Amino acid sequence: MSTIWRLTAFADFKPLADAVERLDEVYPPIALSWLLFEDGAAARMDVLFEARPDEAAFREASGLTGDIAISVEAMPDEDWVRISLEGLKPVDAGRFVLYGAHDRDAITAGQIGIEIEAGPAFGTGHHGTTRGCLIAFDDMLNAGFEPNTVFDLGCGTAALAIAAAKVLPDAEVMASDIDPEAVEESAENCTKNGTPGIDCFVAEGLDHGKLAGREFELIFANILAGPLVDLAPGIANALAPGGRVILSGLLTEQEAWVRAAYESAGLDVHRQPPLEGWECLVASKR
Ligand SMILES: C[S@@+](CC[C@H](N)C(=O)[O-])C[C@H]1O[C@@H](n2cnc3c(N)ncnc32)[C@H](O)[C@@H]1O
Repeated sequence: MSTIWRLTAFADFKPLADAVERLDEVYPPIALSWLLFEDGAAARMDVLFEARPDEAAFREASGLTGDIAISVEAMPDEDWVRISLEGLKPVDAGRFVLYGAHDRDAITAGQIGIEIEAGPAFGTGHHGTTRGCLIAFDDMLNAGFEPNTVFDLGCGTAALAIAAAKVLPDAEVMASDIDPEAVEESAENCTKNGTPGIDCFVAEGLDHGKLAGREFELIFANILAGPLVDLAPGIANALAPGGRVILSGLLTEQEAWVRAAYESAGLDVHRQPPLEGWECLVASKR
């Protein structure tokens, strides 16, 4: 039987959330998967590896360099399957529910299901940033905002683009990512979810011929605070009058910095309730 190795770290939520964020950015991924479980102010991070991990290298890659206790243990194969599926229970976000194929039968009528398997691309819905974007989108729909043109910048699994295409079947939906592997996974997810019309392509930020001169009524941008600030003038320019951008991937201490960048670009910025330590801003063009 092949052995899967599990590395576990217990600490405050914040350093572990930062570590997860760093692991999300390491390419190629150094582990099979990583999950963060919240327990009040404390948290546990489980990281699964195909071979015994080098603890020092992991600490460096994840930024967990302090006196955070880390344990490493071997697990039999059947435990890995059970635990990975347990960690991926369906996630509700407004009218949307994200689930893996193993939970297909658990989706009830009235929910808009988005089927995403855990894989290298970010966006199963288990992260507060993805869920925050979907809740902000759901709030907009409830308020009667129905965009005809949608762009998911940094699409990961394309969960956000798929959500838009499902509720707005007549809208034009585009999705891009800097990572070609994510774009490949996005295209597969679009087909699997019955939204094959979403145009998925590789692009860094707004740097692509397909985006030249384009204006969108809704942009999702769940990336990190730094790129969000750099992209503020470009994103503001790519919004149609009355258009909105949902900004996510920023921590509470970065909220003022990102807000200032989008206000300087001429947008009105509204703060959504934070989720699991992650902020979500909605910026609108007059
Ligand atoms: C936090 S994930 C969000 C994925 C998905 N949109 C979601 O909400 O779950 C950020 C994604 O943005 C991509 N990304 C990071 N910087 C980017 C950039 N400058 N241009 C395009 N994509 C970028 C990453 O490859 C990653 O897939």
